Amino acid sequence: MSADPALTRVREWLPTVIADPLLHARFVNSLARMEYVGVRKMVKARRSEALDCDGLQHLIEEAGHALRLKRAALALAAEAPETIETFAEEHTLAGEAAEAYLQEVDHACEELLAALPDAVRAEANYLLSSVAIEVRAAAFYPLYEEALRIAEAPFSVRPILRDEDRHLAEVSERLRAQLGSDADSTLARALAAEAPAFARWEAAMCAAIGSRSVPVGRRCAD
Ligand SMILES: [Fe+2]
Ligand SMILES: [Fe+2]
Repeated sequence: MSADPALTRVREWLPTVIADPLLHARFVNSLARMEYVGVRKMVKARRSEALDCDGLQHLIEEAGHALRLKRAALALAAEAPETIETFAEEHTLAGEAAEAYLQEVDHACEELLAALPDAVRAEANYLLSSVAIEVRAAAFYPLYEEALRIAEAPFSVRPILRDEDRHLAEVSERLRAQLGSDADSTLARALAAEAPAFARWEAAMCAAIGSRSVPVGRRCAD
């Protein structure tokens, strides 16, 4: 994942975003929106019959990530909190693209699991899309944390990263239990579908940064 070209580009433009508090606030608000959409998807996908204590904790922790990031965004935009009041496009950086990334991963997983019986498909889809997204989170958040520390930013995403690592272990184990010997090949196909979705998010983010006349030191990828 570290060799992923989209992640390399993220590493390049993160310092530009972090250097501008209002731009950074919008970026963090976009991340908060992604965490919130993740919660919404989880609530819709998980039936009561399949929800145990770990599942409930996962849901609460993702909501906690959204709140932590929202508060960090509000602190960054302390002089103009109205600029990031909601998760609307104008209050985020490429917020629609952020949400589209999650929908794209979800739909790709749905197609991969189309042959499963109705009774288990929703839960399997939750697990497969969660693993794909948690793998990305486990690669993205350390990069972001490193950039925050270099810039001596006033907040950390380390607690979020700790939760995401645990979520990844939990959902991976459950995916294996659910799909058995098909788990590895299905996950490989899900990750192959996730990579271009993430690249589209990165391109939209890069364009949003550029459109605000912030020098990014390079052209956005097409
Ligand atoms: Fe999260
Ligand atoms: Fe998570």
